[in-house]
Amino acid sequence: MSSSEIKIFAVFGNPVAHSLSPLMHQAAFNRMGLKAQYVPFCVKDLRKAVEGIRGLGIQGVSVTLPFKTEVMNFLDEVEEDARRIGAVNTIRNNQGRLTGSNTDWIGFVLSLKEGLEIRGKQFAVVGAGGAARGIVYGLKKEGGHPVILNRTLSKAKALGKEFGCPFLPLSEKEKVEADCLINTTSLGMAPNKGRSPFPKKLLKKFPWVVDIIYTPLKTKLLREAEEAGCRTMSGLGMFVHQGAEQIKTWTGQEPPRAYMKKVVLTKLKEND
Ligand code: ATR
Repeated sequence: MSSSEIKIFAVFGNPVAHSLSPLMHQAAFNRMGLKAQYVPFCVKDLRKAVEGIRGLGIQGVSVTLPFKTEVMNFLDEVEEDARRIGAVNTIRNNQGRLTGSNTDWIGFVLSLKEGLEIRGKQFAVVGAGGAARGIVYGLKKEGGHPVILNRTLSKAKALGKEFGCPFLPLSEKEKVEADCLINTTSLGMAPNKGRSPFPKKLLKKFPWVVDIIYTPLKTKLLREAEEAGCRTMSGLGMFVHQGAEQIKTWTGQEPPRAYMKKVVLTKLKEND
């Protein structure tokens, strides 16, 4: 491909109509002065879509729900972090050879570090699904101490055993003390907007309360945490940093993170 040609990047998901990645990534490419177009694809057949990356010469792809695990079957190589987490959210195309990686955990770590130190701190992680895996992986890698709390104990146990951390059923949440509580469940996001995974009366024990949800920016959990006097962080920073890390993977260049955040924040406020 000659350098004067427009480079194509994409997001694969189903649905993708509400994804803010096209807005964020395109804004970053434009600001960086790159000749690049970022296109959303609502994928019907993942195997064929991945073949299309090679066939069309797409340079890089963001992978979102529900394909982050399945896509690993169709790549030439999967990096160690992504293999341990069991999910790929980033594909880079090096002359037809496709490599999968995971920037969700780095995005989370970079965002969290803007507020607090991870090393040596205790973290209560609510949830044991796909999102929790990346977060527990990141916390452990950075020297943090996560405790997993999940409604279904068997899933908490499986995750705890795999990553070597303690676990509890969510029903025993009053026993947990930590420097930071992290919600990795979808409670608080539409269609569960009015719900929170943790009762308000237990929140004041946590100096920090973090949600990985960013639509809405202020979930019920974060509102109640503020009212209880905790410091709070939404999932916006994680979203921006995971996207920025994708651009770094694809282009080798540092993207304009603060500008990306501003663009997404403006859109979220508009949607509100
Ligand atoms: P993701 O891959 O996005 O993390 P997931 O794998 O479906 O999604 O995981 C969702 C997590 O939210 C799970 O930990 C789930 O708890 P269970 O393992 O008990 O299903 C948690 N979750 C979903 N709804 C919940 C609710 N009403 N109360 C508590 N936890 C809930």
